Amino acid sequence: MPKLVWLNGETMALESATVPVADHAHLYGDGLFEGIRIYGSKVFKLDEHLTRLYHGCRYLGFNMTIPQPELNATILRVCAEAGLADGYIRLNVTRGNGLGLDPKYIDNKPNVMIMVNTLALFPPEMYTTGLSAVTSPVRVIPSDALDPRLKCIGRYAGNILAKYKANQVQADEAMMLNHRGELTECTGENIFLVSGNVLKTPHPSCGILEGITRNTIMEIAKQNGFSVQEDFLTPFDVFTASECFLTGTAAELISLVSLDGRLIGDGKPGPASIALRNLFLKEVQNGTPF
Ligand SMILES: Cc1ncc(COP(=O)(O)O)c(C=O)c1O
Repeated sequence: MPKLVWLNGETMALESATVPVADHAHLYGDGLFEGIRIYGSKVFKLDEHLTRLYHGCRYLGFNMTIPQPELNATILRVCAEAGLADGYIRLNVTRGNGLGLDPKYIDNKPNVMIMVNTLALFPPEMYTTGLSAVTSPVRVIPSDALDPRLKCIGRYAGNILAKYKANQVQADEAMMLNHRGELTECTGENIFLVSGNVLKTPHPSCGILEGITRNTIMEIAKQNGFSVQEDFLTPFDVFTASECFLTGTAAELISLVSLDGRLIGDGKPGPASIALRNLFLKEVQNGTPF
């Protein structure tokens, strides 16, 4: 099946797509992105992803001239053209082209890219065994420095360094803390802790991306008898929880079974995580068809 790229109005094969060298995200990370999944020829939570993207464009002052409904329709059209029943869409919007930081001196014509591809973040067996993580020595950018609601390309340098350091000690993920030592998120996933029928997840003010999968899981959990608390959590809470799992568009829902070489709960994906993952995999069938 073809992996396609739509770039500023033209559709091409993935292999032949290139970005301008003076693109402001290429030069400075001055761009926004979304990762969106396709399940059964339907795009999951497309409106939510586009709203987050357009809020980011507005906050950063991008001159985004494509109206949201038009981008929505274009994404669905490119997905239909690619014909991938299950896949991963990478959507990028950058400020435009030009050398020098100052937005005044660049062309302010956003480069808009839709890539229809596939992505498996972790090998399938890890959804049965669960992941290991280390506490990252790299802290997240404080929320009063850069609002964590911005899914900004530049902010990911720290997350990539955290992942690189996890790789060096053969851990699957890195758990990132904020400058107060509170839990925030893993490099591309939100964190949930389970104790009985109570789910706890870091409060947005700790400096997390308010993940769309996180919101979906909170809704599903409440509909299925769990109470959900957004809280200020530390590694203490991880080691005293019975289960921990991570959520994200790319990772979906995956258990975290050890941190810094110590088991979380009994070191296996627990019943709440398994039940919520199964409910999530049903929910993802309710996307927008193309
Ligand atoms: C840092 C970070 N946290 C959390 C998430 C999960 O967000 P979502 O569920 O919207 O994909 C992502 C996803 O890309 C992320 O990059």
